[in-house]
Amino acid sequence: MDKLRWGLLSTARINRAVISPIRASKRSELVAVASRSQANAEAYANEWDIPRAFGSYEALLADPDINAVYIGLPNHLHAEWSIKCAAAGKHVLCEKPLALSTADVDRMIAAAKQYRVVIAEAFMYKHHPQTLKVLELLKQRVIGDLLVIKGAFTFSLARSGDVRSLPEMGGGSIWDVGCYPISYTRLVAGEEPIEALGWQVLGLTGVDEVFVGQLRFADGLLAQFECGFRSPYRAWMEIVGTAGTMWLSKPFKPETDNWIVIKHGDRVESIEAPSQDLYQGEIEDMENAALGGKPQRVPLEDSRANVALIKALLESAQTGKLVSLK
Ligand SMILES: NC(=O)c1ccc[n+]([C@@H]2O[C@H](COP(=O)([O-])OP(=O)(O)OC[C@H]3O[C@@H](n4cnc5c(N)ncnc54)[C@H](OP(=O)(O)O)[C@@H]3O)[C@@H](O)[C@H]2O)c1
Repeated sequence: MDKLRWGLLSTARINRAVISPIRASKRSELVAVASRSQANAEAYANEWDIPRAFGSYEALLADPDINAVYIGLPNHLHAEWSIKCAAAGKHVLCEKPLALSTADVDRMIAAAKQYRVVIAEAFMYKHHPQTLKVLELLKQRVIGDLLVIKGAFTFSLARSGDVRSLPEMGGGSIWDVGCYPISYTRLVAGEEPIEALGWQVLGLTGVDEVFVGQLRFADGLLAQFECGFRSPYRAWMEIVGTAGTMWLSKPFKPETDNWIVIKHGDRVESIEAPSQDLYQGEIEDMENAALGGKPQRVPLEDSRANVALIKALLESAQTGKLVSLK
């Protein structure tokens, strides 16, 4: 296998993010798109100049030329179709959140092992040079020992009928955007929290439209995050240490203008990280793992821990109680 020959499972809006990096890479090729309707698949293939169009997801999985699938389906279908792809011998790059339960992630882990394929969650920010630079700076202890990690990801969800509003499709702001500050916090902390506390405001459809969470780690590190569908776009992280504070104005969608701002009292230092297409890293990582046998940067165990934490926060918000994770 010298190349990943990709099929897109669905005509999701998010597809456009990966089409360009797939085409830019010598180790990848975009071969096909599938939709629940043949006409839709053909129109999409025509629009994006994709050679093959399938009128069902099953038909794409039956194509022996395809060895990698990108899944941009609604959240409740991620586990089911990742496992079907794996059983068909295809590597899988699946959108976040990887699944809606740890039991489903466990089934995905088992499928990846059984069918000897890579399944990875498309947490694109984890591959970006800005994130790697942040981790390097924190390792160099530029802000000392970590004390508090804060973050937010919100936007106004104006589209009615969007899958994000539907509880049966894994809707809700914590699954959709809260997963980012939660994941970023865990990445920076380098450990899992021992306690989680959440509050939510539900919308008319029953999904959380505002969510605020707090986390406590064993060594005293604390974290807070906010996510939601009701306020305009905001996405930031603040990492507070004993010797300074790190501020990231584009932690989850860095691309260009990637300034990492470090404050030591009144002294402010700005460090620029290299620019890179936001979705290039996840395609390269799939190529490295599936073609080169290298460890994937977002292992399934890490995705499992993120899902477990989101579930704990939702449980806390539903019961009004602190959830112990020990
Ligand atoms: N990483 C990122 O930057 C990022 C950004 C946005 C979204 N996402 C993730 O990507 C996924 C898709 O988001 P999106 O906004 O692109 O979604 P979307 O435009 O609504 O597309 C979802 C696609 O799923 C297919 N589908 C299959 N069963 C469906 C059903 N029962 N109802 C609706 N659609 C169904 C449809 O394709 P066909 O009609 O062609 O079959 C539809 O086009 C989500 O998991 C989201 O969290 C990630």
